[in-house]
Amino acid sequence: MKMSMIPGSLAFDEFGRPFLIIKDQEKQKRLTGNEAIKSHILAGKAVAQVLRTSLGPKGLDKMMVSADGDVTVTNDGATILKHMDVDHQIAKLMVELSQSQDDEIGDGTTGVVVLAGALLEQAEILLDKGIHPIRIADGFELAAQSCIERLKELAVTFPIGDNSMLIKAAQTTLSSKIVSKCKQAMAEIAVQAVLAVADLETRDVNFELIKVEGKVGGRIEDTMLVKGVIIDKDFSHPQMPKVLKDVRMAILTCPFEPPKPKTKHKLDVSSVEDYKKLHKYEQDKFVEIVQRVKDAGANLAICQWGFDDEANHLLLHHKLPAVRWVGGPEIELIAMATGGRIVPRFEELTPEKLGKAGIVREMTFGTTKDRMLVIEDCPNSKAVTILVRGGSKMIVDEVKRSLHDAICVVRNFIRDPKVVYGGGSTEIANSLAINLAADKISSLEQYAFRGFADALESIPLALAENAGLPPIQTLTEVKARQLTEKNPRLGIDCMGTGTADMEAQHVLEPLHSKIQQIMLATQLVKMILKIDDIRSPVDGYGM
Ligand SMILES: Nc1ncnc2c1ncn2[C@@H]1O[C@H](COP(=O)(O)OP(=O)(O)OP(=O)(O)O)[C@@H](O)[C@H]1O
Ligand SMILES: [Mg+2]
Repeated sequence: MKMSMIPGSLAFDEFGRPFLIIKDQEKQKRLTGNEAIKSHILAGKAVAQVLRTSLGPKGLDKMMVSADGDVTVTNDGATILKHMDVDHQIAKLMVELSQSQDDEIGDGTTGVVVLAGALLEQAEILLDKGIHPIRIADGFELAAQSCIERLKELAVTFPIGDNSMLIKAAQTTLSSKIVSKCKQAMAEIAVQAVLAVADLETRDVNFELIKVEGKVGGRIEDTMLVKGVIIDKDFSHPQMPKVLKDVRMAILTCPFEPPKPKTKHKLDVSSVEDYKKLHKYEQDKFVEIVQRVKDAGANLAICQWGFDDEANHLLLHHKLPAVRWVGGPEIELIAMATGGRIVPRFEELTPEKLGKAGIVREMTFGTTKDRMLVIEDCPNSKAVTILVRGGSKMIVDEVKRSLHDAICVVRNFIRDPKVVYGGGSTEIANSLAINLAADKISSLEQYAFRGFADALESIPLALAENAGLPPIQTLTEVKARQLTEKNPRLGIDCMGTGTADMEAQHVLEPLHSKIQQIMLATQLVKMILKIDDIRSPVDGYGM
């Protein structure tokens, strides 16, 4: 009897008829069938609409203000969605969609959401025609497969050694960002950084070795690449030398101070002599520590912990430059870069554990007292740091994100040197190919194919719209030219260069990125189409 009253279980009424007990039935809002799917489509489309204006080289930026007043200005799709306060469950799926594109590829996070939005729009039209959602989902899947086939046909392979191609691809990514006016220099920095750490044999790029540091001030053009590590610290004493050459550094995670009694013990100092003795003992101990570090051959101490002014003075006195309060991740990076070991106890310090660097210097910025420490010329390492400059924290953050996109694109290119042309050209070519394929399908899926082809056109449409061109007219012209000239590289001339040929404009995108966009967007839309029942608490529903 008790068992049968548990929500979700099967119970029987007095006539022996079975019924299901569903918890709090009257408190839930329920949508079923096409109505449910349509409400989801609406939410998905709303999110895509937000990002649509950010697509492409003339796409606009968004300003996101958080609850505590932090301002982020960005063009990066994934970042915009991450900062957007969405409640609706399907809107959240769109956020995750762009996030997974970001995790996997790094770029194309706006495009993937716009594409998914367009697919949802097409799905709605097909639903209105009376086609069953499952047939639409299956049709989209088939269309996506044939689209990917076509993409692979369109792709061009470039030789790995050709750096100019890498720079072009990085430039395409950067052209939609805040750094677009100096994209050439930025693209070169991104390519150099990746090539410095890339293992061309295994085609692997260890991202941990590329660090992107930001420092407010200066111009974006002052951004530079340092073949080494930069840490946001300075030497512990202003009178220590500003440049050290042929450095052997001790990387310490133990505090640079005399041993202290542990908390359990009490130390009573009852007379002046005692106090003097204690002071002398501490000083002796400290000198001993410094001597130990110097004996190991070190001429620089990098410490994770701090030390007091007295110790600082003694370090200066004993000519051992030191850097204090270096954070954990930096310590690890320094150890990796210099080939040194992190030493947790002074007793364990040996000459082999020291890190080596050709030069360690302090860098100053403008008229401010801001200093940073540059560790360069590390013999066995490939670690590089990009130091980003910009007028404000907002700009520096956005430049960092843009560089991240560019670095990801270059990495993808090294992994798989296949590219397709951007500017909407591949989308148009694919759309034409899928429309052709649709003619050969005699089943209902034909409609889904055509819907998919129309959805692909949303990318060139958005690109044209954002560039201030008449979207439909521009698209139809390019489409007609693609057919008559048999040139799938024709796209939208967003920059007004006079040629729509994306090969001539050098607008390149990794093939992998495009495939991923299509796969992720199709998957999401299929999933939404397969949900036909929503139950939610009455007041928690809605966007
Ligand atoms: N010079 C150009 N002319 C025409 N189209 C371009 C040009 N440069 C880039 N594009 C196109 O712009 C689109 C990329 O825009 P954008 O970088 O804003 O979005 P995304 O890469 O999808 O997302 P995000 O960069 O935010 O992760 C691509 O379709 C690309 O082909
Ligand atoms: Mg991009």
